Amino acid sequence: MPILSIENVCKKFGNFDALKDVSLQVEKGEAVAIIGSSGSGKSTLLRCINNLETVTSGKIIIDQDVLVDTVNGTACYPSEKEIRRICTKTGMVFQHFNLFPHLSCLENITVAPIKILKRDPEIVKKEAMELLEIVGLASKATQYPAQLSGGQKQRIAIARALAMHPEIMLFDEPTSALDPETTNEVITTIQKLVEQKITMLIVTHDMRFAKNSASRVIFMDDGAIIEENTPENLFNHPKNERLRAFLQSVER
Ligand SMILES: Nc1ncnc2c1ncn2[C@@H]1O[C@H](COP(=O)(O)OP(=O)(O)O)[C@@H](O)[C@H]1O
Ligand SMILES: [Mg+2]
Repeated sequence: MPILSIENVCKKFGNFDALKDVSLQVEKGEAVAIIGSSGSGKSTLLRCINNLETVTSGKIIIDQDVLVDTVNGTACYPSEKEIRRICTKTGMVFQHFNLFPHLSCLENITVAPIKILKRDPEIVKKEAMELLEIVGLASKATQYPAQLSGGQKQRIAIARALAMHPEIMLFDEPTSALDPETTNEVITTIQKLVEQKITMLIVTHDMRFAKNSASRVIFMDDGAIIEENTPENLFNHPKNERLRAFLQSVER
């Protein structure tokens, strides 16, 4: 059983087709990189998995729970409560970090496990300190996001997502807002998670990361998955003309 199954997902914004019949299966422990030009539907796909957007039609199954299915052409979602439960199985990391500015780094990490999962605050705090060690920011526990660099903020955002013990981590261009030096520290952190076999879908412009760390790479264009392969095959033997043009434009 795949941990994530996306079947024939379509998403319209008005008359505009942002996702066109997208199907994708992800196995536990895979790191799937999604590449493609701006506007190709990469963020929309992640947002549908995390229910930040609803699909127009199609089916999404996360860890054997049906987030949405389509009956007679209409997308059917379960109850709000059930949606919330299913969505705790995915953790999202955004381009612009989206940390809570009024909470310390430690509180940013502990707030959801305590408030949403109703877990023991002392245990959650202990785990959060361990996560801060993993992302190399234990010394920043009591500081506030405004006191951190971009790369540090992003590492706190990663720790915050991990604190919910998600089955799948979703990264939406986690390094696009960062300068080259801090990009590396975030990439190194994500690489650690790849080594720990944490399942992830990562939208990235970092072709080096996609080449070196992903188990599979997906190329999206104009709302559709156009090509999908191992990094080796996708980068060295691209079949689709649009993928070839994209690779030339990013490698230039
Ligand atoms: N909320 C929205 N309303 C209308 N159009 C949207 C909305 N979100 C995204 N789009 C459009 O859908 C397309 C895909 O967007 P997006 O998924 O953000 O692409 P990517 O992440 O690959 O750059 C774009 O043309 C974008 O303008
Ligand atoms: Mg995007």
